[in-house]
Amino acid sequence: MDIQQKIKELREKNIQAELGGGEERIKKQHEAGKMTARERIDVLLDEGSFTEIDKFVIHNNILTDGVITGFGTISGRLVFIFSQDFTIFGGSLSGSHAKKICKIMDLALENGAPVIGLNDSGGARIQEGVQSLGGYADIFYRNTKSSGVIPQISAVMGPCAGGAVYSPAITDFIFMVHKTSYMFVTGPEVVKTVTHEEVNKSELGGATVHSQKSGVAHFACKDEKSCLLMIRELLSFLPSNNLEDAPLYLTQDDPKRIDPQLISLVPTNAKTPYNIKDIITTILDDHVFLEVHANYAQNIVVGFGRLNGQSVGIVANQPNYLAGCLDIHASLKGARFVRFCDAFNIPLVTLVDVPGFLPGVDQEHGGIIKHGAKLLYAFAEATVPKITLITRKAYGGAYDVMNSKHIGADLNLAYPTAEIAVMGPEGAVNIIHKKELAEAKNPQKKKEELTKKYRETFANPYKAAELGYIDEIIEPQETRPKLIKALSILKKKRRKNPPKKHGNIPL
Ligand code: HXC
Repeated sequence: MDIQQKIKELREKNIQAELGGGEERIKKQHEAGKMTARERIDVLLDEGSFTEIDKFVIHNNILTDGVITGFGTISGRLVFIFSQDFTIFGGSLSGSHAKKICKIMDLALENGAPVIGLNDSGGARIQEGVQSLGGYADIFYRNTKSSGVIPQISAVMGPCAGGAVYSPAITDFIFMVHKTSYMFVTGPEVVKTVTHEEVNKSELGGATVHSQKSGVAHFACKDEKSCLLMIRELLSFLPSNNLEDAPLYLTQDDPKRIDPQLISLVPTNAKTPYNIKDIITTILDDHVFLEVHANYAQNIVVGFGRLNGQSVGIVANQPNYLAGCLDIHASLKGARFVRFCDAFNIPLVTLVDVPGFLPGVDQEHGGIIKHGAKLLYAFAEATVPKITLITRKAYGGAYDVMNSKHIGADLNLAYPTAEIAVMGPEGAVNIIHKKELAEAKNPQKKKEELTKKYRETFANPYKAAELGYIDEIIEPQETRPKLIKALSILKKKRRKNPPKKHGNIPL
C-alpha cells in the first residue's frame, strides 16, 4: 500500500469515528433538543483549536467508545476536554471510556490547565460490570487530586445518574441545561419502590431543582449553546491553575470613577431592604458581574467581576432576601465560593449588611452551628487579599464571620451608615433596659428614647473605627476607587498558614 492509500485509509477511519453512533441516533439526539458531543466542542472551544486524542479507541467495532477527548483553547488559553457521546452506547462509561477521560485529566493536571467535562451518559456500561465501576473511581480519584490545583468544570447536558454524579460533584462548578439534563443518585423508579414517592425525572433532579433547592448546580442555562458560552465566560475570570493569577482584562472603565447614585442606595432605615446587586454592578468594571448560584440561598450573593482589570470574588449579604440573614444554605454557598477563590488566587471583596444568623428550630437542628462555622473557617483560612466593606448592619457573630478584621481581613472599610454592634437597637434596648421599660409611665416613648440613645452610642461605625477594627470610613460614591486602591496595595501580599497536612474544616 503506498502512502497515498494509507492517508486515504486514515481519512476514512476519521470520518467513521466522527459519525459516532450513526445518522439515525444523531437525528434522535437533535430531536431531543441536544447537540452531539462534537457540536458541543465546536461551540465551546476557539474555532479550529480542537485536537482530538484517542479517537481510535475501539469497543465492539465502534470507534471512540462513546467519549471524545482532547485539548484546545478558550480565548487563546489551553483547556482539556471530554465530551460524552450519547449516540454511542448512550454515552455509557466502560473501562476504556474511563481510561480516555483519565488520560486527559492527567495531562491537564501536569500541564496546569482546566478540565471541562461535558456529561451526557446512561451511567456505567451495563455489559461491562465492575470495570466501569473501577473506571468511575479512577475518575473520582483524579477529580480529588486535581481539586484546588486546576479549575474543573462540569456541564451536565443529558442524564447523569447513580455514582456517576460524584465526578461533577467534586468539580468546582456544575452547569445544567433546563429540560434536557438531570442528576440523581437513584432515579424515579427506585425512589418509588423504596419510599413510595411518585416523582418524575425533572422534579427529582432537573436543572431547576439543583440550581434552586439542592444547590448542586451553580448555573442553570436555558439551552446548550448558552451553557457552553457561559463556561467560556466563567473561565475568563479564572487562572489556569493555582500557581497563576487570573488574566488581566484591560478596560476603558475609569478606575477613579465616582458613582453619586451610591449615596442614596443604602436606606438609612436599617429595616428597609435594598438590592445589594445594585452596589455590586455599579462598582465593577463595565458593570459586569457573573453571579454564581444565582437562585440558591439568595440571602447571600457570590460571583465574579473585575476591578481595574483584575478578577475578584464578591461575597455579599442580600438585604432583599431574608433580610440578608446567614442560614445553613447561605453559609455553605459562601464557604465553598470563598475556598475556591482562595485556592485560585482570586482576591475577595466582601460587602456586609447582615442582621445575624437566622433563628429557628429548623436551623438549629439542621446544624447551623457547624455550617455557619464553615463560612467562618473559609474566610479565616483564606490568604488571598481580603477587603471588607460594611454598608449597613454588621451585628453579632455574623459581624465576626463576614470577613472581619479579627479573622484576617486586610482592609476593612465602612460607609457612614454602618451599624456595628452586638445586636440591633430594638433587641438590645429590650434586654438591657428591661426593668426601666417595665417601670416607665409611657413605655413606648421611653423605648424610643433609649433606642435613639443606643443607636447614637453603639450603632455606628465610629466605635469600631476608634478600635482600629475599621480602617477607613468612606463616602459611598467613592467605593470603586477605594476598592481598586486597596487591591493595588495588596497585590504582593504574602501570608501563609502554618504548615499542616490539611485543616479540619467542620464538614
Ligand atoms: C449500556 C446503555 C446504557 C448503559 C443507555 N444505553 N444506557 N448501554 N449501558 N448504562 C444505550 C441503550 O441501550 C441505547 O442503545 C442507547 O444507549 C440509548 O438509550 P435509550 O434508552 O434508547 O435512550 P433514552 O430513552 O433517552 O433513555 C436514556 C436513559 C436510559 C434514561 C439513560 O437509557 C437508561 O435508563 N439507561 C440505563 C441507566 C442506568 O441504570 N445506568 C446504570 C446506573 S448505575 P441503542 O443501541 O438502542 O441505541 C451507575 C453506577 C455508577 O451508573 C457507579 C459509579 C460509582
